[in-house]
Amino acid sequence: MVFRFPETRDVSPTAESDYKTRRRFLTSLGMGTAGAMATVATVRHWRRPPITPQPRIENFTRNYTFPVDRPLTQQDAVLRFNNFYEFAADKRSVVQRSRGFCLDPYTLVIDGLVKRPLVLGLEDLQAMQLEERVYRFRCVEAWAMTVPWVGIPLASILARAEPTERAKYVAFESFLDVAQAPRQANLSFPWPYREGLQIEEAMNPLAFVALGLYGRFLQPQNGAPLRIVLPWKYGFKGPKSVVKMTLSATRPPSFWHTLQPLEYGFTANVDPAVPHPRWSQAQEIEIGGWGQRRPTLKFNGYGEWVAHLYPRS
Ligand code: MTE
Repeated sequence: MVFRFPETRDVSPTAESDYKTRRRFLTSLGMGTAGAMATVATVRHWRRPPITPQPRIENFTRNYTFPVDRPLTQQDAVLRFNNFYEFAADKRSVVQRSRGFCLDPYTLVIDGLVKRPLVLGLEDLQAMQLEERVYRFRCVEAWAMTVPWVGIPLASILARAEPTERAKYVAFESFLDVAQAPRQANLSFPWPYREGLQIEEAMNPLAFVALGLYGRFLQPQNGAPLRIVLPWKYGFKGPKSVVKMTLSATRPPSFWHTLQPLEYGFTANVDPAVPHPRWSQAQEIEIGGWGQRRPTLKFNGYGEWVAHLYPRS
């Protein structure tokens, strides 16, 4: 199978082909620029599936330890521009295809090299001290966003299971449910989606388990009910809809690394000096913006907290 990650041009908020088709259509109607722009805005709005807001998260504190240098991304862009291959390969249809997706009853299993294997329900997780953190987020495809996540430090969850001294890695496993996500019947992909970290990375204070964003519980398309957020790494390292964390002595498999090891490394730290084999990582584009580029930051700007983990980089 030749698998192709979307080209960088496809990741702009309005794909080029989409834009050209609309322009041809409007020109054929003989419309001027202002009329064309108004019509484009109306058509875009009209084509958008409605999103039912998730309930608000009532109790959380704000953690300002990790400052950001840019405004929050428009919430609507974060909710409508998604990578979630279990539902669609096209970012704009994930919201529609994942509508109604629900893991119920939901449990998070923590097992492997731990003294206290755990099975946590959603209510157990929601009862923990929740905090909001604004993080920069950088996808390997060179788009970026800035999101207020609500959740729990990953280290606090893992500590409850008491990892043993032999634990060197943490493996994450996303859900597997072909009935809800028919793309998982395609065995060319190593479902379920998996990712992994070294234990020191998982215990780093930046590593976060998100239950919500913008003050509300996660939408299906953003990885409900629980996803991993690692702001110094490319976004594919943070699996959505995680159901299991396994502590191990050996390096676990990872979804994209298994599919294309030369394109998606296991460590996958954001680094402007290391291009992806098919595109540069020197710059990034903010989603929900006007397509302006800005320089990519090493470790996505979080070197102060994580550079010591990688003395040779
Ligand atoms: N997790 C699962 N289970 N499936 C996926 O396809 N895509 C990853 C990551 N986690 C993915 C996943 C990638 S490539 C990115 S960039 C982010 O989710 C996208 O998160 P967002 O849609 O909330 O922006």
